[in-house]
Amino acid sequence: MAEIRIRHTNARISGEDNVKAFLEKQEVLYEHWDANKLPDALKEKFVLTDEEKAEILATYDDEIRDLASRRGYLTWDVIALSDATPNLDELLKKFEQVHTHTEDEVRAITAGKGIFIIKGTDDVGYFDVELEAGDVISVPEHKPHFFTLMENRKIVAVRLFIETEGWIAHPFTDPSFQNA
Ligand SMILES: [Fe+2]
Repeated sequence: MAEIRIRHTNARISGEDNVKAFLEKQEVLYEHWDANKLPDALKEKFVLTDEEKAEILATYDDEIRDLASRRGYLTWDVIALSDATPNLDELLKKFEQVHTHTEDEVRAITAGKGIFIIKGTDDVGYFDVELEAGDVISVPEHKPHFFTLMENRKIVAVRLFIETEGWIAHPFTDPSFQNA
């Protein structure tokens, strides 16, 4: 279950209803898939073959197609990151910069953990959304954010796109960005 941390107060929001209500106000889509649908062998696997990626997509085919039909996504894939990923630190450095996209950024976490840092409304400021397996999030287009890993440095997620070019990152320079 996702948890929120407001950066400027360090306040935490937990519990599905509270998290959902907070994210709704921030125009961030939050849904849930059944993490237990994934075969056990894939729940702790962070280096994946093409066949295993296809198996993850097949496991969640109904959920993917439902989300895609509601929100217009046309393509999807699986991304896996862990310490086994070549140049992980360099990759994370690139990730950890506030940016925007011209389409929304959708991630359904199927294993491991991850965190989205999002610029909220003026009264909220930057907040963290800590995600685990089963959490589905969409950061709206043009909303400043970045994504990174948590302490375990492991994640597998399904990404959905309207068109892959929509996912190009546009750097967002923000003097009010709170680094922690
Ligand atoms: Fe992004």
